[in-house]
Parts: sequence; C-alpha cells; structure tokens
Amino acid sequence: GAASTASMAKHDLNRLNAGLMTLLQSLTPTTEELAVQDASLQKVTSLLKEAWPGANVELFGSVANGLSVRGTNDLDICMQLPESSDAKESKVEAALRVAETVWEAGMEDVKDLPGARIPVVKFGLPGTALRVDVTIDNDLACANTRYLAAYAAIDPRFRQLVTIVKHWAKRRKVNEPYTGTLSSYCYALMCVHLLQTRSPPILPALQLLPHTHTGSIQGWDVGHYDKVETLQDFGNANTQTLAELVWDFFEYWAWGHDYRSTVISVRTAGTLTKTEKGWAQRVGRERHLVCIEDPFELSHDLGRTVDRQTSGVLRKEFLRAATLLRDSPNPLHQLFERF
Ligand code: CTP
Ligand code: MG
Repeated sequence: GAASTASMAKHDLNRLNAGLMTLLQSLTPTTEELAVQDASLQKVTSLLKEAWPGANVELFGSVANGLSVRGTNDLDICMQLPESSDAKESKVEAALRVAETVWEAGMEDVKDLPGARIPVVKFGLPGTALRVDVTIDNDLACANTRYLAAYAAIDPRFRQLVTIVKHWAKRRKVNEPYTGTLSSYCYALMCVHLLQTRSPPILPALQLLPHTHTGSIQGWDVGHYDKVETLQDFGNANTQTLAELVWDFFEYWAWGHDYRSTVISVRTAGTLTKTEKGWAQRVGRERHLVCIEDPFELSHDLGRTVDRQTSGVLRKEFLRAATLLRDSPNPLHQLFERF
C-alpha cells in the first residue's frame, strides 16, 4: 500500500518493475518444455494404468496449477488406487510395485521412499531432464493444487509474485524443506496471504465464500468457492504493480510479521494466534517458529520444517532482500545472486 512503499522512490519502483517483467519472461516455461511435460505425463499415465487398471492418475504441484518456473523439471504425479473387490493394496505395497513397474519400463535412477509421510517413488525419464515423483492416494495435494489454480485464475499478479519469490528462494537456497527451509507450496501460500491482505485485496478468501465445491478428504473439509470466472474483476480496484508487491512481500517477512505469536492463514485471509492453534510451544519435533496454516489440513504447519538455526537463516534472507530493495538503486542483480 501507499505507506509501505513510501520508502521506495517512484522512479526506482518503475525501473524495478521493468526489470522484474523482463525476468518474468525468462522464467516462464517454454512451449517446448510444456510439450515434454505433457508427453511424459501421458507416458507415465499409461504405464501406471497398465499395472493398475481403473486407477486415477493425476498431475499435481506447480506444473498442474500453473505456478511452475522454467527449468524446474519436476513432475508431481498422484495415483489413486482403484477400489477393487480384493482387499486394497497398502500404499507402501503399491509404492514398491510402482518402483518395479517403472524400472522394468526403463525409467532411470528409480528411488522409492515407502516410509515417507506420503509414500513416493522418484525416477528420471530417459531422454529428458525431467524428474518424476509418483505418490499414492495423495488426495489432499491434488485438492490444494486445484485450490491454488483457482487463485491463479483470478489475478495474474499471483503467478507473477510466486514466480519471483520462488526464483529468489531457489537462488538463495531457502527453498529446501529437507534441510530446514520452506517448500514451494509454502511460498505460494505466503503469496496468497500477501495478496489477500492488500487494501483493497487482490485475492479473496475462497473458503469464506459460498462453497460451490464441497467435499472432505481424510476428515478435512476441502469446500470452497471455485466459480472463478465470476471473480475476474476481483483485484481490479488494486492497481499495485509487481514491483510494489515484491517489496510488500519482503517488507512484511522482514519487519511486519510477528514471528513470536502469529500464524498466517489463507483460509481466513488473515492471521491467527499461535495460542489458538496450540502452536505456542514446541509440539514433539515441531517447533512452530514460522507458522503457515495449511488451508485444508488445519493441523499442518507448513513452517514445521524450520528449526532455530534455519529460522535465523530465513529471517536474515528476508532482511537482506528487503534492505536491498529499500536501499539499492538497482537491486535486481544482488537480490537473485546465488548463495
Ligand atoms: N504439498 C503439500 N504439502 C507440503 C508440500 C507439498 O500438500 N508440505 C503438495 C502441494 O500440492 C504442492 C505439491 O505437493 O503443490 C508439490 O510440492 P512441491 O514440488 O514442493 O511444490 P511445487 O508447487 O510443485 O513447486 P516446484 O515448482 O518447486 O516443484
Ligand atoms: Mg513440484
């Protein structure tokens, strides 16, 4: 808003915006890339359907919700096992059989992680740079993918902001949930929250509108409004540019967010307190230092990967980005400098 950008001169913002728009072009997936992804999805789908007639095979993640960055090369595929007359194969058994199936079909570097929270099989497609992750019965991920796709269809600034933030996070090595920083999905939710809290807002809270899509997955309510064609003008009263939004994002996470007591909640287009979520203290291995509530699986804190050390790293990176944007006349090069 006006107050938050007061510290950046208008001409700097205009220049920054031009630079970001050029960068955005170079980060948009090429048509070639999309064609390879599409052909690969067809190939994996037919392999899986041969082994599991009646299974539903679905793309999820950034390639499915339109939030992918050029060169990401990561295809997330979910298989819903058929409800056969026989006793249903367990997810772990199915994951092992997926690994065998794709290995026999000549897929490269097959790794299965049947013990993961969501059993997953990873492999490479010969002749492409693509890495595929197949997960079993990962219905919540398919649902949150469609949910983010709905936001992406409302205002183009959402995809633009996510693309810039993901590029920054990858370059600065703070997009590595396995080593204690945040997932791409978490950054996408942080961007939804930012756009929901502009004034006037750029994105609505789809779960607070009448539920045109209803359902429940593993006991979690996934209901929300999904007739996005009626929301095409939603963000129009807000004329902020991408540069202003990028600044707002880093300003919020550097200086605006109350890490001690606040939880980001896309579901409510606002914040909750850690106390009301029961996240005010460490719960088991979860420290709840940076709290982002999953919109459907309400007990899931997307920040739970963060520990004391990595929360320091993250906050230092947010501060670095915000300080560069505020003080440097030409911050783009340094902002995305490889760590
Ligand atoms: N996901 C989730 N909960 C998490 C992490 C991921 O539900 N803690 C789901 C989301 O549906 C997400 C998908 O898994 O979209 C894929 O995760 P990931 O590959 O980390 O994110 P992408 O959005 O695909 O981003 P990228 O372009 O970096 O692959
Ligand atoms: Mg992905």
